[in-house]
Amino acid sequence: MQTTTESARLGGTQLRRIVFTEEEIGARVRELGREITATYSPGDRLLLVGLLKGSFLFLADLVRAIDLPLHVDFLVVSSYGTEKTSSGNVRLLYDAEEDMKGRAVVLVEDIVDSGTTLNRLMPMLEQRQPKSLEICALLHKRRTSADVEPRWVGFDAPNEFLVGYGLDYAEDFRHLPYVASL
Ligand code: IMP
Ligand code: MG
Repeated sequence: MQTTTESARLGGTQLRRIVFTEEEIGARVRELGREITATYSPGDRLLLVGLLKGSFLFLADLVRAIDLPLHVDFLVVSSYGTEKTSSGNVRLLYDAEEDMKGRAVVLVEDIVDSGTTLNRLMPMLEQRQPKSLEICALLHKRRTSADVEPRWVGFDAPNEFLVGYGLDYAEDFRHLPYVASL
């Protein structure tokens, strides 16, 4: 059950409950930043590649928690549109400009659901011959036996449709500072 304060913060009846609060997310992102900092060194020429749009807040907070020189770039792949499940058809709509060859690349993703997006994307990025290629995902539903597993995961997520902190439903709710279920 929601408290009065909580339903007020949820701004109406569409959102069911807060799953991860702003404070929980902040603390976990700082931890992930420390782990990534401890993994690499300045000579790795670290490149964080955010998968838009869902990762935009996570990436913004994560890079500020990493104490190493790094570059930031982005990828856009085709989204679900207004559907709540993956079509299995992943298309690259915008490609990163940074050269990945010989660099430590970390792909930053909002949430792993079926794993389809990452399974399609990782072989494509491997072809660019990075020195290393890892995934850092804020959320993981652990629904599938994905071929590729993130090295870093912020939180295991319940099998519900989640919005907020970058995640959307039909482009709504991305701006919420917490993660809620719809
Ligand atoms: P996958 O390809 O099935 O692993 O789905 C990954 C992508 O689907 C994520 O990058 C999200 O954009 C989207 N997605 C999956 N689950 C959710 C959710 O619960 N809320 C919002 N977007 C989701
Ligand atoms: Mg996404």
